Amino acid sequence: MINKEPDLSVVLGKIKLKNPVMPASGTFGYGEEYAGILNLEDLGAVIVKGTTLKPRLGSPQYRSVEIAGSLGLHTVGLQNVGVDRFIKDKLPYLRRFATPLIVNIAGESVEDFARLAEVLTAAGGVRGFQINLGCPNVKKGGLRFSAHAGMTFDVVKAVRNSTDLTIIPKVAQTATDIVVLAKACEEAGADAIRPNVAHIGMAIDIRTRKSKLGASVTGAMSGPALMPASLRAVWQVVKEVGIPVVGGGGITCAEDALQFFMAGATAVEIGTHNLVNPRVTIDTIQGLKKYLSDNGIASIRDVIGTFVA
Ligand SMILES: Cc1cc2nc3c(=O)[nH]c(=O)nc-3n(C[C@H](O)[C@H](O)[C@H](O)COP(=O)(O)O)c2cc1C
Repeated sequence: MINKEPDLSVVLGKIKLKNPVMPASGTFGYGEEYAGILNLEDLGAVIVKGTTLKPRLGSPQYRSVEIAGSLGLHTVGLQNVGVDRFIKDKLPYLRRFATPLIVNIAGESVEDFARLAEVLTAAGGVRGFQINLGCPNVKKGGLRFSAHAGMTFDVVKAVRNSTDLTIIPKVAQTATDIVVLAKACEEAGADAIRPNVAHIGMAIDIRTRKSKLGASVTGAMSGPALMPASLRAVWQVVKEVGIPVVGGGGITCAEDALQFFMAGATAVEIGTHNLVNPRVTIDTIQGLKKYLSDNGIASIRDVIGTFVA
């Protein structure tokens, strides 16, 4: 018998990933922060920190708090160097790797998103965009873009009209059904969808009666406690759209990731757990390989969508 390495490759839009594991935006900096710890070439893709048109200093202290050992609350406030410095200082480093680069873009208006996609496409070296639809639409009184299927559609369509690169909207959890939002993304020309069920939460320090997140008061949830809801969102969306779905939210290991593949995800993102184990992406890739080999499965694609309801 020929002992072939299991095939972990998957396709997201125009991007072929050699394996389906990516770090989630905001937990992996600009990649170079991890360069002494792992080889960026080993990842399926690199998703960098949310990038805005202008640099942002982000939230005041405190930015992160752990809840009950399984949930994080974070308010980074989109601290980032801004698109010009990203292109000048960060992109040359990231371009050196064959690993596809996906830039997470964040805007305050539909026009911001379109402009970011246009400028970054022209810069060269970027393979795709993750559109952060959890951002507040400043022109619409701060309502999040994911609050409404119409706003979601407008952003994705504007980005679609600004770039031929792969676009992956990251749909935030709001009162609107995530399936409705995912359909709006597909209709607007998205190549894949990343459902994000991270609610905005808060935690109070009972000694000071102030927020544990300082002046920001609230923050987005992350970590293992999110996983059941994340998994359900993937499963729901996969059934209703014809484009690939990227899973994420709470993943800490290959066993977690495999549940997302079985639910129908084509690729996965790992976020908070990078802060616990900075090699979690690599460990997960190794774990997926081992699972496939141990079970005589030739390709990860043979696992996708195999969940039996
Ligand atoms: C410290 C931190 C910073 C983050 N920054 C961003 C960001 O800039 N853009 C974004 O779309 N998501 C951001 N996220 C959300 C993650 O990408 C991810 O969707 C979320 O944390 C859920 O996945 P996890 O449970 O694996 O962390 C951030 C999360 C954390 C913990």
